[in-house]
Amino acid sequence: MTSDVRRTAENIWWKRGIVYQVYPRSFQDTNADGVGDLEGIRRRLDYLAWLQVDAIWISPIYPSPMKDFGYDVADYCGVDPIFGMLSDFDRLIAEAHTRGLKLILDFVPNHTSDKHPWFVESRASRDNPKRDWYIWRDPKSDGSPPNNWVSNFGGPAWTLDETTGQYYYHAFLREQPDLNWRNPAVREAMYNVLRFWLDRGVDGFRVDVIWHLIKDAAMRDNPPNLGWTVGQREIGRLLQVNSADQPEIHEVVAEMRRVLDEYDERVLIGEIYLPIERLVTYYGDDLSGAHLPFNFALIQAPWKADAIAKLVDEYERALPQGGWPNWVLGNHDQSRIATRIGEAQARVAAMLLLTLRGTPTMYYGDEIGLQNVPIPPERVQDPWEKNEPGLGLGRDPCRTPMQWTADRNAGFSDGEPWLPLGADHESCNVETLRNDPRSILTLYRRLVALRREHLALSIGDYVPGRVEDDLFRFERRYGATRLIIVLNFGHEAAAVPLPAPARILLSTILDQDGDKIEGALSLRPDEGLILSV
Ligand code: NOJ
Repeated sequence: MTSDVRRTAENIWWKRGIVYQVYPRSFQDTNADGVGDLEGIRRRLDYLAWLQVDAIWISPIYPSPMKDFGYDVADYCGVDPIFGMLSDFDRLIAEAHTRGLKLILDFVPNHTSDKHPWFVESRASRDNPKRDWYIWRDPKSDGSPPNNWVSNFGGPAWTLDETTGQYYYHAFLREQPDLNWRNPAVREAMYNVLRFWLDRGVDGFRVDVIWHLIKDAAMRDNPPNLGWTVGQREIGRLLQVNSADQPEIHEVVAEMRRVLDEYDERVLIGEIYLPIERLVTYYGDDLSGAHLPFNFALIQAPWKADAIAKLVDEYERALPQGGWPNWVLGNHDQSRIATRIGEAQARVAAMLLLTLRGTPTMYYGDEIGLQNVPIPPERVQDPWEKNEPGLGLGRDPCRTPMQWTADRNAGFSDGEPWLPLGADHESCNVETLRNDPRSILTLYRRLVALRREHLALSIGDYVPGRVEDDLFRFERRYGATRLIIVLNFGHEAAAVPLPAPARILLSTILDQDGDKIEGALSLRPDEGLILSV
């Protein structure tokens, strides 16, 4: 490939750019019902443009009984009234595009709501034409479920339908029956859903639990996980070898990709929680699969310099030729990064996320250092917490309202917010932090700006570095530009020799820009630096 061709290929927006995840219930409410809406996202577009992210991914906005807060879809081609109307969506996407922002939707193909008309028909009778759109099986001879699979939210994955005497399968809630992706009619209907949104201008999809779509054809039992102990989440009791990640899934992903390829420059992102060697198979043969199989390694690894350096190198090595990397620090299912690793290290994490090779996804609120918010038992919303209480599985703490101002309800809503705000919202909010030259928000904005300024950071090569105690050092290079990133994962000062004289482009402490360094480089506790050589 000539360097010009390479430059064009790598300049595609979803490689060069930064994705920002919005959890729509919690971003901005404009009708005082305590739940965010599309109009709220529209009113905050200027903030996202100021932050200089490139794309917004919005968690599901479709009509839904909200048993799993939108991941139980009752109509794939509409907008839930709680979020607004299709016309609000059209206005949002038009105004996002005017500002140069792309818009990515969440596509939830593994399951529908049990209120979706397809399922209502499917359960009506054994010979209904939609019966085979879902996964129905007879009980075992003793009346028990067809196999031993467990729901991801705890409890049985099979529910007996009294009327027709068969069980249906649901990998999540009983109100989220799994579609039968072995049925070509299901595939066609779902590909038309993609086209419906692509025709409206959507720039891509984040596909929910894409590795779950195809199950073992014979629905064999999952083997026990010998490492599991009582008191851990129930889904871990069995190894999910037959209920997910089947070989035929790659044919489905490639078909989805072909639908996106009917349009220009759209992106297919897959939600996949698998070990790296399995994850990278989702790029597909000859890159015919997902553009970005989400890489959650940073969420799952211990926050230690050696562990992080190892996983970055392993991931870089495992990527198929031409496969584009990506990195995620948090999302609506995981603990807030600032809570998991602490405020000081959250800044180091921000620098890591925005200097690694590959598309970064930011989770709303992480840029202001939002913490997990404790949820009193009477305010718990998450069905997972309700099903398996006391194990810390609830996802409400990381889904609390965005904190915009020091005003009432942090400027999120004029009504009672659906989840409580952080106790720190008078100081931890966008308005306060954007005027503070040392705040984490200022750091994020500077990092984003640097990434936009330096091709070395967005599309340059990654040069593996070294780890010394708590320090992780690596390089990014593009043409003659050479940037060194040094991150102190520890809480003590540390020093490292520098290969060449360098200039500090940015410190996570935000006070040393432009300083020249020669010989040895000293880092303060919890400090990260970007240097240009
Ligand atoms: C993954 C989503 O991220 C999560 O929020 C949801 O509960 C499950 N898939 C089921 O759709």
